Amino acid sequence: MEEVYKSGKVKAIGVTNWSIPYLEELRNKWTIVPAINQVELHPFLPQHELKEYCDKLGILLEAYSPLGSTGAPLMTDPEIQQIAKKNGVSAATILVSYHINKGVVVLPNSVSEKRISSNKEGIPLSKEDLDVLDGLAAKGKAKRINTPLWGFDLGFADWYAPAKSQ
Ligand SMILES: NC(=O)c1ccc[n+]([C@@H]2O[C@H](COP(=O)([O-])OP(=O)(O)OC[C@H]3O[C@@H](n4cnc5c(N)ncnc54)[C@H](OP(=O)(O)O)[C@@H]3O)[C@@H](O)[C@H]2O)c1
Repeated sequence: MEEVYKSGKVKAIGVTNWSIPYLEELRNKWTIVPAINQVELHPFLPQHELKEYCDKLGILLEAYSPLGSTGAPLMTDPEIQQIAKKNGVSAATILVSYHINKGVVVLPNSVSEKRISSNKEGIPLSKEDLDVLDGLAAKGKAKRINTPLWGFDLGFADWYAPAKSQ
């Protein structure tokens, strides 16, 4: 990927699903710092340590499954709904705005034209609201939603243990 970047064919190169231990390994070899790291990110999986680490190295974080993936389960959380009600917007707007306010790229997905359009809306959130959202996981709501059976450990503290070879 670095060769492709150096050839001028692409403007930026990035990674996805890279945890701190793997980024540390890559850091020994990279000549170009990845522009972006796309990971599952939302108030139930805020990845505070990874955010701090990427901020220090100038790697932009990009949030996938920001609404909690299929069926947008985070939208029904009472505390997220309360913040939405207080701000007069939908829970989806709060979940999208959470990232925008933290300088994170956000990648919501929808098959509905109306939702694709409304998911572009972001609002400024108060420190109080951001603190509540940032603290939900630590309060017992921590949940990683996308753990496909890739068969190896991605190095995140909450990733499933790899299957032991017989
Ligand atoms: N790099 C990776 O390993 C990785 C892994 C997973 C996902 N991703 C990427 O991340 C993007 C988003 O992830 P995702 O699809 O898992 O999760 P998501 O965007 O958190 O959630 C999508 C779900 O939320 C619903 N939804 C979207 N907007 C809504 C709204 N305004 N109100 C109510 N419901 C709404 C969608 O239903 P409707 O379609 O019916 O609106 C769909 O069921 C995708 O483009 C995907 O390619 C990357």
